[in-house]
Amino acid sequence: MEEDAWGNAVTAASAEAARALDETALAYMGFRLDTGAHLKAALTADPEMPLALIYRGYFFLLFCHPALARKAAETRERLLPMAEGGALNARERLHFRALDLWVDGDMQGANDAWEAVMLDWPFDPMAIRLAHYTSFYMRGGTAMRRQSARVIRDWAGRDLPGAGFIHGVHAFSCEESGDYANAERHGRMAVEMNPADIWATHAVAHAMEMQGRHREGIGWIRANEADWNRTNNFRFHVWWHRCLYHLELGEHDEVLALYDRAVRAESTDEYLDITNGVAMLWRLEQEGVNVGGRWDELADRSAERVHDHILCFADMHYVMALAAAGREAEAKDMIAAMRDASDGDFSSQGEVYRRIGLPLAEAVVAARAGRHQQVLDTLLPVREDIALVGGSHAQRDVFERTLLESALAAGKGALARALAAERVDAKATSAYGWRRYADALDLCGDAEGARAARAEMARLAA
Ligand SMILES: [Fe+2]
Repeated sequence: MEEDAWGNAVTAASAEAARALDETALAYMGFRLDTGAHLKAALTADPEMPLALIYRGYFFLLFCHPALARKAAETRERLLPMAEGGALNARERLHFRALDLWVDGDMQGANDAWEAVMLDWPFDPMAIRLAHYTSFYMRGGTAMRRQSARVIRDWAGRDLPGAGFIHGVHAFSCEESGDYANAERHGRMAVEMNPADIWATHAVAHAMEMQGRHREGIGWIRANEADWNRTNNFRFHVWWHRCLYHLELGEHDEVLALYDRAVRAESTDEYLDITNGVAMLWRLEQEGVNVGGRWDELADRSAERVHDHILCFADMHYVMALAAAGREAEAKDMIAAMRDASDGDFSSQGEVYRRIGLPLAEAVVAARAGRHQQVLDTLLPVREDIALVGGSHAQRDVFERTLLESALAAGKGALARALAAERVDAKATSAYGWRRYADALDLCGDAEGARAARAEMARLAA
């Protein structure tokens, strides 16, 4: 029995294997490109190391890709005799349980297992990070905050490897639960400890986005670009955040240039990369910007994922890409496939598909087809459940915008006015919010109110 860098007992054939697994965890937390190389080193040093195999299963599942999910299932099969033969210690047994449940699509069950690890082993960074990740795609801010709050006091001020990453995790938890001051405090602390900490950089970027600090946000993201831009594809998402600021500032040419140069510089099939692209083009078109032929590439990639049904949040964006590219029949086929797959699927994601995924998918297809009343009829009854689909407040805002745009397009003045009033109250520095508030007031016949709202919009743009 060896010990890891955080003092936890780990089953390994050698100290060399244990050190390589420590590096794997640190590389994963840092979104580093050498994560796989460190895991390979651990498994070369000890091909039967239980936790290394479990991590391999986790990494396969993190791609949310059916082919890799099958490899995760194979890894589980390989681990099964070890787990049943008593080769795993108590902490490793909980990690195996997490993998076992996650392979079956029970993200909630896996999350519970990592939370159980955190109770007895608060210095297990992988359990903290994976609980954070899966909560993000399920219950969102409140659960994330509760989980990271349980361990942040243990890690704070301790000279432990990767302590900054836990501050970054807590920063994002704080942000998604609306505590922007603590998000910024923990995020800045983490970035000071490690300027390449892209998750912490991203957490502060979110806090600035939610507070409408657009110019400051661009400066923040640019400040450590040379460091965070060396990480894996998550960097495309940080570029996406920079685009959000430029979009709010009406700098559409800059958004398109960054889209082509960074956000979607490569036509990857990573789910997060596709969601970045879809969510940006969708917003640009809502602002009346011609995005040219950019949808076609995203729709081609999405068409390959029609039968995924792994992560509802990702599937929503595949449907959006197909609908936006004018491939409504394929989008509808995907919805039908989603309905079939979720029917009788009692995993936590199955419930998400039934409760919010299907109506959301129907609504985005209706929006693209100009069936705005259908968007309202479909989305309004489930609006409070949209958060269940996962993702951040900033990411889900694309659905809120769609609801507002449809209210305006359907000529529902009172509803549009109410929805736009919510926006300007939540983010008073958003020119988009004021513009749509003005449009809604016009619809209601309040010309004077509309003039005042446009004056506020002009003041913000000045
Ligand atoms: Fe984000």
